[in-house]
Amino acid sequence: MYIVDIIINYFQTNKELYIGEKITISDHMLQTAMLAEKNHSSKSLICSCLLHDIGHFIIEKPDLLVSNSLDGKHEEIGFKLLKNYFKPEVAEPIKLHVQAKRYLSKKKSYYDLLSNPSKISLKLQGGIMNDEESQKFTSLKFCRDALMLRKYDDGGKIPNVKVKKIDDYRDLINSQMINNLGSR
Ligand SMILES: [Fe+2]
Repeated sequence: MYIVDIIINYFQTNKELYIGEKITISDHMLQTAMLAEKNHSSKSLICSCLLHDIGHFIIEKPDLLVSNSLDGKHEEIGFKLLKNYFKPEVAEPIKLHVQAKRYLSKKKSYYDLLSNPSKISLKLQGGIMNDEESQKFTSLKFCRDALMLRKYDDGGKIPNVKVKKIDDYRDLINSQMINNLGSR
């Protein structure tokens, strides 16, 4: 099966709830992508937002992770899969979106707005960054995109919002693949 079909199939069949939230992972990612679109983001960033939690589809029962105090490292699992098929502009911000939360949480106003499950997972993910970690993070090429992704990620957790269908994004997903893999 072709990777884009596998991804679309994940969205259509996985009805797992997003960790501790009242929304499915699929709808959460669609909402995140829609926010990026609304803010006139690049196609790469929209695609990155759309696929950012795909690692949760691969990890079994992600909703149980927080209740069992486990960090599934979903950003790395997603990145490892996607980097084989997608441009770095898509895959790299996904790898960094947890680091972005750890960085942004230095600001109390950001931390206070995180949902409760997100505050719990922050601890499991290493907690708020120290100055050295922050410096390293902000020097990374895709830091800015990761911070934008994170902003839309945090905003994309509203229950009962009407979202687009994953099929509406098929062309966009195809356009972001490396070496014209998408034109097959
Ligand atoms: Fe997310």
